[in-house]
Amino acid sequence: MKSNIVFIATSLDGYIADSKGGLDWLNIIPNPDQVDMGYESLMARIDGLIMGRNTFETVCSFDVEWPYTKPVFVLSNTLKKIPKEYEGKVELVQGALKDVLAHLNNKGYTQLYIDGGATIQSFLKEDLIDELIITTIPILLGGGVPLFGDLGQAKELELVESKTYLNQIVQSHYKRKR
Ligand SMILES: NC(=O)c1ccc[n+]([C@@H]2O[C@H](COP(=O)([O-])OP(=O)(O)OC[C@H]3O[C@@H](n4cnc5c(N)ncnc54)[C@H](OP(=O)(O)O)[C@@H]3O)[C@@H](O)[C@H]2O)c1
Repeated sequence: MKSNIVFIATSLDGYIADSKGGLDWLNIIPNPDQVDMGYESLMARIDGLIMGRNTFETVCSFDVEWPYTKPVFVLSNTLKKIPKEYEGKVELVQGALKDVLAHLNNKGYTQLYIDGGATIQSFLKEDLIDELIITTIPILLGGGVPLFGDLGQAKELELVESKTYLNQIVQSHYKRKR
């Protein structure tokens, strides 16, 4: 079965980056033992990622090695070329989301991790998200990059499970009710 999955951390008030684009708040709860909050099993489960150009550029700005072991497809209407160092790891995609998905599904990518605020909102608007795994950090940012936006129509979900990490962080896993 094909699945488009969101796995993302948000503030309690629903922002995925602060008003300066910052992500430091993701680490406000000390995690000295580097407890994995489901990221590794998600990465093992998926066969590719679709991310928005802003998220791609944010990941590129981190002073770390490329963090993904699966192919990354970057949605952009402005980027003309993937920088040389990411060739073979990253591919540019554009067009209607349904067509992008059909193209990737045909190539065998059926378990896709969808990342980036505007990107997730676009997928949700077209009802193309099957699972949402939301990790809530106990902070009110008061503004920033929102996870959710206008949908036009309500979408019902069912809770698969809910977990608490480090006594502070709540992770809720939902499936779209169809
Ligand atoms: N908290 C977390 O776990 C988490 C996770 C991921 C990202 N983030 C943060 O979220 C921010 C990025 O999110 P964002 O909302 O700014 O943008 P985004 O979804 O990462 O990127 C948006 C861009 O994607 C391109 N795009 C092409 N087709 C699209 C479509 N159908 N729908 C939407 N976008 C499309 C456009 O690029 P062009 O303008 O090139 O056409 C658009 O400007 C960053 O600050 C990042 O650090 C946080």
